[in-house]
Amino acid sequence: MTTNMDQTQSIILIGFMGCGKTSIAKQISKKANLRYIDTDNEIVSTAQMSIPHIFEKYGESYFRQIEAAVAERTGRQPGCVVATGGGIIKNPDNIVNLKKSGILIYLKASAEKLYANISGDQGQLRPLLDTPDKMDRIRSLLAERDPLYLQYSDFVLDTSALSVADAADAIIEKHLTHIKRKQ
Ligand code: S3P
Repeated sequence: MTTNMDQTQSIILIGFMGCGKTSIAKQISKKANLRYIDTDNEIVSTAQMSIPHIFEKYGESYFRQIEAAVAERTGRQPGCVVATGGGIIKNPDNIVNLKKSGILIYLKASAEKLYANISGDQGQLRPLLDTPDKMDRIRSLLAERDPLYLQYSDFVLDTSALSVADAADAIIEKHLTHIKRKQ
């Protein structure tokens, strides 16, 4: 049996914008001592510009190209906890690549909860929600994406009523059970 954390499976969090991927991943990173990767941060450092700027200057398809390259790289990193961008599930190749390094966990939340989490954002951090009726956009994008998150995830965790700390603990527990089952 290996005890080297680097050889364990990564924990990859998927889910809609505002479901808590970043804060929960950071908490897991601290508690389980796993390296934290944020695919959006990787995209920003690859492109050397902010996400709204990438969308504005080069369009969503260019953003998705960089995202695919980042997913491919991330899939080669074991022993990490990964916060992904909400649209990473749009490209099935990203899923194949991410699954190479670990388990995918869908952080599920209602449209109302997502809206509440996002409405406190400063400025326009999320170009896809840069629209007068955010709630309507959230509902229609979620209807498109929820089946994909469900299809691709190994586990689903409803985060609507969980604190960040409780969600992190629940995921660490699932991860440990998963590793034990594989040994
Ligand atoms: C996106 C989600 C964002 C970011 C980009 C596109 C999406 O990440 O990748 O704005 O398509 O849902 P978060 O889910 O971290 O907000």
